[in-house]
Amino acid sequence: MSKEILVTGGAGFIGSHTCVALCEFGYTPVIIDNLSNSRESMIAGIEKIIGREVKFYPIDCCHLDPLDLIFQKHRFDGIIHFAAFKSVAESVANPEKYIDNNMGSLQNILTLMEKYRVPNLVFSSSCTVYGEPEVNPVSENTPWKSAASPYGYTKQLGEKYIGERHIQDPLGHVILRYFNPIGAHHSGLIGELPLGMPNNLVPVMIKKISQQQPLQVFGNDYPTPDGSCIRDYIHVMDLAEAHVKALQWLEKNPNQSEIFNLGQGKGNSVLEVIQQFESINGIRVAFEISPRREGDITQIFADPTKAKELLGWQTTRTTAEALKDAWHFNLQQS
Ligand SMILES: NC(=O)c1ccc[n+]([C@@H]2O[C@H](COP(=O)([O-])OP(=O)(O)OC[C@H]3O[C@@H](n4cnc5c(N)ncnc54)[C@H](O)[C@@H]3O)[C@@H](O)[C@H]2O)c1
Repeated sequence: MSKEILVTGGAGFIGSHTCVALCEFGYTPVIIDNLSNSRESMIAGIEKIIGREVKFYPIDCCHLDPLDLIFQKHRFDGIIHFAAFKSVAESVANPEKYIDNNMGSLQNILTLMEKYRVPNLVFSSSCTVYGEPEVNPVSENTPWKSAASPYGYTKQLGEKYIGERHIQDPLGHVILRYFNPIGAHHSGLIGELPLGMPNNLVPVMIKKISQQQPLQVFGNDYPTPDGSCIRDYIHVMDLAEAHVKALQWLEKNPNQSEIFNLGQGKGNSVLEVIQQFESINGIRVAFEISPRREGDITQIFADPTKAKELLGWQTTRTTAEALKDAWHFNLQQS
C-alpha cells in the first residue's frame, strides 16, 4: 500500500510541487493548509497533474484539536512540514505573528508525531540561518550569525527545537536549508501564487511586468561583479525531489537526523537573473535602481556536496529553465 505523507502547507509554492514529486515516487500526500498564503486552485492543479484526487484539509496547524483529528484518521508514514509564514519584511513589522505561527505550528506537529508515534519529519529551513556568510559557498557547518529578521530567527529556533526534542525522544528528521526556490511545474498548472504582493525576486518581477511598472533593484553598489546581490536560485521541482530523497533517506536510517543545503552551488546576481529572464522569455524587464534594502545580505550560495553524497540528489534544471517555467505559469493564470 502507498505510504501516506502529511504535507503541511501543501497548497503553497514548494509544498504543491513536493506533492507532485511524492506522487511520482509512489507516495500519497495528505495536505493540510489554512490557505493563509495560497489558493485552493493549487490543489486542483496538483490533481490535474497527478490525475487523481488529493486529500486536503483546510485547517490551521496552530489549532491542536482539529489537527489531532487528522492524526486520528490517518496513519502517516512521515511528515513534511512547510506550513509557516515567510515574508522577511512582514516579520520585521510583526514579529509576534511569525513566532506564534511558525513555532506554534511546529510545536503542534511535534506533539502529535510523538503522541501517534509518527516517524520521519522533513523540516523546511532556510539559508537565512547563516546570515551574511564570511565565505561562500556555505556548507552545513558554516557557523550561524544572529538572525537578520524575526523570520530567520523562527528557522533557527525551529531547527534547535527539533534538535532538543530529538535528544529527549529520538525522532528521525531531516532539516533542509533551501536557498532561493524559483520556477514552476513545466505543465504551468502549479507555480508561485502568493496572496497579496509577492516578496521574492521572480514573482515580484512578473507582477511588475504585468502591472507595466519598473522592478526595483535594491542596490547596485554591493561588492559583487555587477554591484547587485547574489543568490543561489534553485528550480522548485529540483527542490521538491530533494524532499522525496530526504524521506527515502529517513526510511533507510530510522531515528537518525541530518541537515542538508539545497542549492545549485552557484550564485546569480539580481541583474543576471533579469537579463536571463529577458533572453529566455523574449520579454523586456523594466527596472530601476533603488537604495539598498535593510536586511539584504551581499551574497550567499550553497555547497550542496553533502546532499549529493548522502541523498544522491543534485539539481538537474538550470536557472534559465526555472525562469521560463515561472513565466509559462504566469501566462496560464491570465
Ligand atoms: N520560498 C522561499 O524562498 C523559501 C526559502 C527558504 C525556506 N522557505 C520555507 O519553505 C516553506 C514553504 O515556503 P513556500 O515558499 O512554499 O511558502 P508559501 O507561503 O507558498 O507556502 C506555505 C503554506 O503554508 C500555509 N500555512 C502557513 N501557516 C499555516 C498554518 N499555521 N497552518 C496551515 N497552513 C499554513 C500557507 O497558506 C501556504 O500555503 C516555509 O516554511 C518557508 O519558510 C521558503
